[in-house]
Parts: sequence; structure tokens; C-alpha cells
Amino acid sequence: MTKQKFDGYAAQYDAWFMENENLFRSELRLLRRALGEIEGRRVLSVGCGSGLFESMIDCSGIEGIEPSRDMGTIAEKRGVHLLGYLAIEEAQLERNAYDVIYLNGSSSYMEDLPRAFSICRRALKKGGRFISLDVPKESAFGFMYLLAKNVGSFRHPDLIDVMPGLPYPLELCSAGVWHSTEEKIGVLRALGFHDFTFYQTLLRNPMYTNEEAEEVVEGYRSGGYVAIIAEK
Ligand SMILES: C[S@@+](CC[C@H](N)C(=O)[O-])C[C@H]1O[C@@H](n2cnc3c(N)ncnc32)[C@H](O)[C@@H]1O
Repeated sequence: MTKQKFDGYAAQYDAWFMENENLFRSELRLLRRALGEIEGRRVLSVGCGSGLFESMIDCSGIEGIEPSRDMGTIAEKRGVHLLGYLAIEEAQLERNAYDVIYLNGSSSYMEDLPRAFSICRRALKKGGRFISLDVPKESAFGFMYLLAKNVGSFRHPDLIDVMPGLPYPLELCSAGVWHSTEEKIGVLRALGFHDFTFYQTLLRNPMYTNEEAEEVVEGYRSGGYVAIIAEK
């Protein structure tokens, strides 16, 4: 079995969000806003991880795929209906079947966005909604993660005194393939998605992000966590 990027990090991943509770609450607000009403809809979470976010909403009707066994087993215990320990690139999803497909934080670990997003598009019903929520490469968080990834440490002299108290695990920063929002919009437009909506949160600089839960506002040019919503 191939080791996946998140194998061995499930406990650390959940613990990081629990310790950064206000950051978690801000991102959860963004997910809720982006999903809207999902009752009675067929919904798929791509890269559902440990199902931490899903456990905060009613996830009994949410299907998931997740390549990391460590993460996926926890998601199943939390009530996500796991279709398999699979990356999107290898999933055999039913065509024209889903009302909503969302990727919460998982596009940052995907090398080939056109391929991943086109597989999602094929599985969406006409008029179905594709949602990608993530840290944009161009945001303060994106810059911080890229710097840490490239110097192999959060302890770089330029980061002293300007870092959040509890930075995201370095190994997970380094495993990321950080994409810009414009890059993702371009890929989605080329695939034929239309009627875009954008929401964002984490507008504060990273070292102040966990001071209180933030609001969700429209747009994508300021946030450290951005939701792109587009229709098939
Ligand atoms: C930052 S975590 C987000 C997990 C979860 N969605 C959440 O919000 O807590 C990214 C997740 O994407 C998964 N992932 C990475 N590459 C993937 C791929 N090619 N297809 C599907 N999921 C992938 C990882 O295993 C990991 O669980």
C-alpha cells in the first residue's frame, strides 16, 4: 500500500484545529456558507480527511473519498459514508449523480487540477455545484507556507515574532502544492463551469487569526481561506 501524504498525521491534524479553535470556527463558517442547504441533496466530500468538519454539520447524508487510511477511518467513525480510500484521480464516480461536490482543503494537495476537477465535473448533475475551499497561494497564509516549505522550517529568522503561536504542521505545509485562486478559476472556466460565487474568511494576518472567529465575506482577494463555488 502506498503511503499517502496524510498517513501518520491524522491525530496531529485534528489536534491542530482543536488548538486553533477560532481559526477552525472561521473555516467552518465558510464551509457552512458555501454548502448552503444540503438536506435531500446528494453530496460528495473529496478528500474528506478525518471528517472533522463534517462532524460539525449533519454528515449522515454526505459521501466521501479519502486516500489516507488513517484519516478515512476516523471520518467513517464520525459518520461520513466513505466510498473508498481513494484519490479523486482513481475514483470511479457515478456520472451526473451529485448535486454538490466539495473539496475542503484538499486541492492544495493535488498536482493536476484539470484532471481532478474534470472528474468532479463528470460526476456532477447539470446545474450541480462544485465547491473548492482552500488557502490561496497569494494569501498571507500561502506566502508563509511557501516560505516554510522552501526553507524547510518555520524557524527562519524572517519569521521570528511574526508567526502564529501554533503553525500548521511543517510536513503538511511541505507536502502542499499551493495553488492561486486565479489558477483554479482558470481551470474551472476551461472545463465549462459557470456562475461563479466567492466567499472568504481569515482576513486577519496569520499571527492574529486565532484571536477570535471571523465573519465570512464575499470575494476572494483578501482571505486566507477562500471558497470558490461554480455551477456545471
Ligand atoms: C487539508 S486536508 C483536508 C481534510 C478535510 N477535508 C478537512 O477539511 O479537514 C487535505 C485532504 O486531502 C486529501 N487528499 C490529498 N490528495 C488527494 C487527492 N488526490 N484526492 C482526494 N483527496 C486528496 C488528503 O489525504 C487530506 O485528507
